[in-house]
Amino acid sequence: MLSLALALTGCESRPPYKSDAELGLNPQQARGRALYDTYCLRCHEAYISGGRNGPSLMGVFKKKELPSGAPANDERAAEVILRGRAKMAAFSDRLSVEQVQDILAYMHTL
Ligand code: HEC
Repeated sequence: MLSLALALTGCESRPPYKSDAELGLNPQQARGRALYDTYCLRCHEAYISGGRNGPSLMGVFKKKELPSGAPANDERAAEVILRGRAKMAAFSDRLSVEQVQDILAYMHTL
């Protein structure tokens, strides 16, 4: 069973890197992407569903619920980013409220 799970996650490779223009990001979303790549990507995949050190955030706002079951809205996501949750550290010392808004704008494109 474990080998099957490994095989399944193993074949999901990351798609080639796309530029902000190719993704059709507006300036705010592009700022958010740069911040996301710096602070979030090492734990949260954006364009594939496989988990990393945290759950993938692909399509995060297209679903009704966040992985924890909390409602998938900006308010709740901002709270998680600023205050942290379980194994995820808080970012309130590194990100301004404006930067969190930019990250959320980007997350809406996933
Ligand atoms: C060191 C790894 C790590 C980093 C860096 C990290 N996270 Fe997380 N994140 C996690 C883990 C682990 C969870 C699952 C927490 C849990 O529910 O136990 C999580 C959960 C989440 C959730 C879902 C919360 C819920 O209610 O289900 C969101 C949204 C999220 N992270 C966004 C972000 C954003 C945006 C960033 C960058 C600013 C970020 N994370 C950086 C590890 C990380």
